Parts: sequence; structure tokens; C-alpha cells
Amino acid sequence: METTENVLEIRELVKDFPGVRAVNNVSFNIKRNTVHCLVGENGAGKSTLIKILTGAYTRTGGKVLLNGEEYSPHNPREARQKGISTLFQELNVVDQLTVEENLTLGMEDTTFGFLRKTDKINKMVRVMNSIEPSIHPRQQVSTLSVAKKQIVEIAKAAAAESDIIIMDEPTAAISEREIERLFAIIQRLREQNVTVIYISHRLDEIFEIGDYVTVMRDGKHIDTKPISEIKDRTELIKMMIGKTVFEQYTPKEAADRDVLLQVRNLSNHKLKDISFDVHAGEIVGFYGLVGAGKTEIARAIYGADPYQGDILFKGKKLQPAPDKAIAAGIALVPEERRSQGLFTILTIRGNIPVMNMKKISRNGFINTAAEQSVTADYIDRLKIATNSAEKEASKLSGGNQQKVVLSKCLFADADLLMLDEPTRGIDVGAKSEIYDIIRRLSKEGKSIMIFSSELPEIMNICDSIYLLFDGSLKAAMPNGDNVDSEKIIHIVTGGE
Ligand SMILES: Nc1ncnc2c1ncn2[C@@H]1O[C@H](COP(=O)(O)OP(=O)(O)OP(=O)(O)O)[C@@H](O)[C@H]1O
Ligand SMILES: [Mg+2]
Repeated sequence: METTENVLEIRELVKDFPGVRAVNNVSFNIKRNTVHCLVGENGAGKSTLIKILTGAYTRTGGKVLLNGEEYSPHNPREARQKGISTLFQELNVVDQLTVEENLTLGMEDTTFGFLRKTDKINKMVRVMNSIEPSIHPRQQVSTLSVAKKQIVEIAKAAAAESDIIIMDEPTAAISEREIERLFAIIQRLREQNVTVIYISHRLDEIFEIGDYVTVMRDGKHIDTKPISEIKDRTELIKMMIGKTVFEQYTPKEAADRDVLLQVRNLSNHKLKDISFDVHAGEIVGFYGLVGAGKTEIARAIYGADPYQGDILFKGKKLQPAPDKAIAAGIALVPEERRSQGLFTILTIRGNIPVMNMKKISRNGFINTAAEQSVTADYIDRLKIATNSAEKEASKLSGGNQQKVVLSKCLFADADLLMLDEPTRGIDVGAKSEIYDIIRRLSKEGKSIMIFSSELPEIMNICDSIYLLFDGSLKAAMPNGDNVDSEKIIHIVTGGE
């Protein structure tokens, strides 16, 4: 095959959905053997563009050249045969099948004789085990972590000898250590002549592994540049949202506030003897790597997991059951938002006000005008990219679905709001809006607990910082100028 410098050329690509042009006349090139990053706000059109390249969507217009030849796949299998494989934002592995069955999924018996098929499987298993020896081919996929599911998909793509592997937010649900490993895998793929198209909202990653970056906004192509020509995060953010956002903690005036939540000697399958207080109006951040126990603290307080020890809320012992926690004034935004927090068949308007119907009802009837104005307010503030409040939540982009769940809980009017990884998958512009809403709630006297594996987030909004390692509370400190991020990293990775 003749090699061209550009592995992929995208020409005037267009994709229309009813009422929205998700990809609007986009043209750019992707160079062979590079890591090409794609960034932009939620709803900018990144996933849609990718889905055209992988044959999941048919384009409305435009042209794509793969290795200099016109390329127009009808489905993901055809795309894979032509050399483009994908790790979708919603992972594609089938939980009910084994690893091996997943690897062979979509492989046609008719094209591969029995023997060739076995060869192919062996090769995939070899590739997979060179990345992660602990995955067993006969293992059921549902028993694997998200990172390991990704590895199954990467193995499948690598064994198919793909020219291009597309990764749509691959680090959104994996731990720091797994991210390091994924990056090593990406480097290795590049050395083996694979081009990686990489989508992420974590901009530091773009600078760490990217060679080129393409910025999209509102379905349009803004620019494509070598990463080396971009000065810093601020410049990239400006390209993405057209303005600079302020990313820094402003200390609050210390106030003598009542204790709202008291946790005493909390222990369970994961947690070891954890005690702390949360005051009214306080924003408390729990930081630790994935697996340190953040989600477990939230779940225990919410009454979703059993525990020993005492939890007092407003001075009274909290009964360990979610309905009791909700009735007492506690709300939780879970980490697994798409599956746990969103009614995907309802519209945006059907989702946002459900946790606080009282506020939008009169005499037991829902006041439609109030419901609409609340919904419109959140769509506006969090910039939920949609042409209508009546859009089904399932048809929103990944990040915009998250925004809907967050809106729902921010509107819930709880006295204690627990947010587990609140801005994962959310673009920088909406992040700062969410931080503003959290600050406003705290000024109104609400308490907010934030569980995050992103240190900048903790340092940006929290008044107090708690550090977790392996189920134990290792340190507590007020936020401020003298908080040392290196020391924090040292502690949460197990250092003394
Ligand atoms: N199946 C669909 N039906 C209707 N509209 C859709 C559909 N899929 C996407 N859209 C719309 O297309 C636009 C682009 O969505 P897309 O998923 O490509 O965004 P994205 O850049 O990947 O965002 P995110 O960072 O949130 O994942 C959004 O306005 C979205 O609501
Ligand atoms: Mg997306």
C-alpha cells in the first residue's frame, strides 16, 4: 500500500439530527503514527464525529479519505476491517459474555475458517496478556474492572492490526495507576505504526500524550495544531470555549457554624475507623486514588452499605437506609451517574425537578411554568447543549447527561449534598459554573461533600481537605495558600 502522510482526511463532514447540526462542515487531517487529540465542550460534536468514522452513524454530507482512499463504512465491523477500531465512551464489551467471546464478537465464521479463527483468538489473547497478564480468556467480562474491559477492547483492536484506534474518554472511569499504564500502551501502539485519536476532558492528559490537537466548538472545527505550539492549559481552554476561566480557590471567611454531620469510628468492608465533622455551609473534599474509599464513605452515610460506628446528622443518629437519609435532607450524586442517576427515557424537563417537586408544585399540582423555568435556568447555567428542554436524556451527549443529573441534585434542596466525582466528563466551562453553584449553596448554609480523584478540583473549591489511602483517613487540613500538592500526592499514594 502506498503510504500518504495523512492517514485520515476529513472533508466538509456534516451530521444532522432532528433540529441540530451536530457536526457542521468539519475538515482536518490526521497524520500517520501520531496521537491526535480531540477536545471541546460537552455537545461540541466529538463523539458524533467519531461515530461517523466508525460506521455507527451515517453522515449527512462530506467525505473521508482513509490512506488516500474514499472511506464510508456501514457499520463498526466494516470500519474495523478497513482499519479503524474504537473504544466507545459507552464501553462496547458485553458483560454477560466471557473475555474470549467478546474478543471474537463480530468475527464472521464464514470469512474465517475454524482454524484461522483459533489463530486469531490466540493472537488476541497474546496481545491482551502482554498488556495485562491477569485477565483470563474464560473469565466473565462482568467481573472485570473498567480498565480491564478497556484492555480487552484494545487487544481486539491491536490484533485486528488497526491503522487507527479511537479512544473516547478512556480515562473517565479508571484510576491514576491504570491511566499511567494506558498511556504506556498508547506509546507502544504508536511505535507499532498505529495512529491514536484521543478524546478527553482532562486537559493535562492532552499535553502529556498528544502530538496534535483538534478543537471543536458547536459542531464546528476551530483549529488543528501541534501540541508543542500551544503554550498552556489556559490557551487551550480559550480555544475550546472562547474565554478564559478562573481556576483558583478563594478562601472563605471563617465562621462559627454548627456541626451538621458527625462521623465517628466508621468501619466496614473497606473503611477503617474514620471520624470527622462537617459544618453547616462547609465544602469538604475527600481526595484519594480510585479504591481509597471515597465512594464507600458516601455510600455509608447514605445508608447504602452496612457499617459499624456512629453517624449523627443534625445531632440525631442517622438510620442506615437511603430513604431515611433522603428524608433527613441528604442527597447523593453517585459516581455511576448514567446508570443510577438519570431517567434516560424522560426529557430534560422530566429529570431536573424530580427531587424537589415541592418547589415547583402548588396545592399538589405541578406548576408547569415553574417546572419549565427551573429547567431553562439549569440548561442555561450549565450550558446543557440541547435544542429543547423536551429532548430525551438518552439523546444528549455523555457530558450533558451528567449535567442533567447534577442539576437534579443541585436543585434538590438538601442540607447535605454528597457529590461523587462531580465533574468527571464535564467540560471546563461547565465545571466552573458547577463550582459557582456549589459555592452559592454553601453561602446559603448548605453543606457539600465532594469525593474526587482530581486534585485541582479539590484545591479549587473545598474549604477542608481530607486525604484517604486504603480505607483510612491519613490527613485533614484547611484549604489555603499553604496546601502543598506534592505532599498531598505523597500521602494518598501511601507515603507517611
Ligand atoms: N442520537 C442523537 N439524537 C439526537 N441528537 C443527538 C444524538 N446524539 C448526539 N446528539 C446531539 O449532537 C450534539 C453533539 O453530541 P456529541 O455526543 O457528539 O457531543 P460530545 O462532543 O461528544 O460531548 P461530550 O463531551 O459531552 O461527550 C449534541 O447537541 C447532542 O445532543
Ligand atoms: Mg462524547
